[in-house]
Amino acid sequence: MASSSLLPPNPLSPKTLTPTKALTLKTTRRRGRTLTRSSIQWNRKPEVAGKIPRVVVITSGKGGVGKTTTAANLSLSLARLGLRVAAIDADAGLRNLDLLLGLESRVNLTALDALSGHCRLDQALVPDRRFPSLLHLLCISKSRSSPKLPLNSKTLLWVVDALKPSKDFIVIDCPAGIDAGFITAIAPADEAVLVTTPDITALRDADRVVGLLECDGIKDIKMMVNRVRTDMIRGEDMMSVLDVQEMLGLPLLGVVPEDAEVIRSTNRGQPLVLNRPPTPAGLAFEQAAWRLVEGDTMTAVMVEEEEKPKRKGWFSFLG
Ligand SMILES: Nc1ncnc2c1ncn2[C@@H]1O[C@H](COP(=O)(O)OP(=O)(O)OP(=O)(O)O)[C@@H](O)[C@H]1O
Ligand SMILES: [Mg+2]
Repeated sequence: MASSSLLPPNPLSPKTLTPTKALTLKTTRRRGRTLTRSSIQWNRKPEVAGKIPRVVVITSGKGGVGKTTTAANLSLSLARLGLRVAAIDADAGLRNLDLLLGLESRVNLTALDALSGHCRLDQALVPDRRFPSLLHLLCISKSRSSPKLPLNSKTLLWVVDALKPSKDFIVIDCPAGIDAGFITAIAPADEAVLVTTPDITALRDADRVVGLLECDGIKDIKMMVNRVRTDMIRGEDMMSVLDVQEMLGLPLLGVVPEDAEVIRSTNRGQPLVLNRPPTPAGLAFEQAAWRLVEGDTMTAVMVEEEEKPKRKGWFSFLG
């Protein structure tokens, strides 16, 4: 376990954003309603669990559930905690991570340019505007049709191995589906964050992906439940987080509510975690980043809203 003192100081991180204890955020369902309660103490740096550099793939199976949003917000949160991060957009041709990080105009060279000898790998790394020494974006290619060199598991492994000495975290944004792009993106990863929305199609695909990750030797898989709507859970039109957790059987890294600010921040190229005051989704991503660093998880708990009246006599005896 790496000590927090190994982390470079982060002058940009306000002291008020540093918890003193592992975050505890519980999701509580009361009669079909999901509530979140958190006790966050903010005056210490997180301790990195496990061996650094850590290579984390953000995956889902189903498209459009929030992988890139999660990759952008986790990467930025990690950098703000003083960790050196490389965010790799492994979606060749349909890249979006540059847009979400507001770096689209700076992507001139890609990993494929480095692999084909046109530049060095460090020249293809795009420094973030806010944390230039801590966060770098690496795009695999600019268009799906152009690459002369095929990108495969072997070449991505080479790229990740080359980045490892200078990074604490390597976050890989995986393409949707389970075809060649997915196989390539998961190859260098030691751990995975599985993003899902609480709907049956996303859950079926997520379940399939868990099997494939395990086959690939990735045993450390955590789940992010995105776009949760308490009003729909209350109306029993959406599965609760607990239901999702029971279906997938994975440890819970975070629960992100549906939040219009996500779309606004996507369009501005300003990840949500930078918003002050924080929005509910921004806070959820920030807390998830803390848990990721510390190897922590959260729990989803069911609690009845009203205590049932105590039964007397035989009924109480029979339960
Ligand atoms: N919590 C949220 N609240 C509201 N909108 C969200 C939330 N999370 C993601 N979105 C929106 O959902 C859309 C898809 O998100 P994103 O691009 O991150 O998904 P993805 O899984 O990476 O998609 P793809 O599979 O195509 O790569 C975006 O328009 C994004 O703004
Ligand atoms: Mg994406």
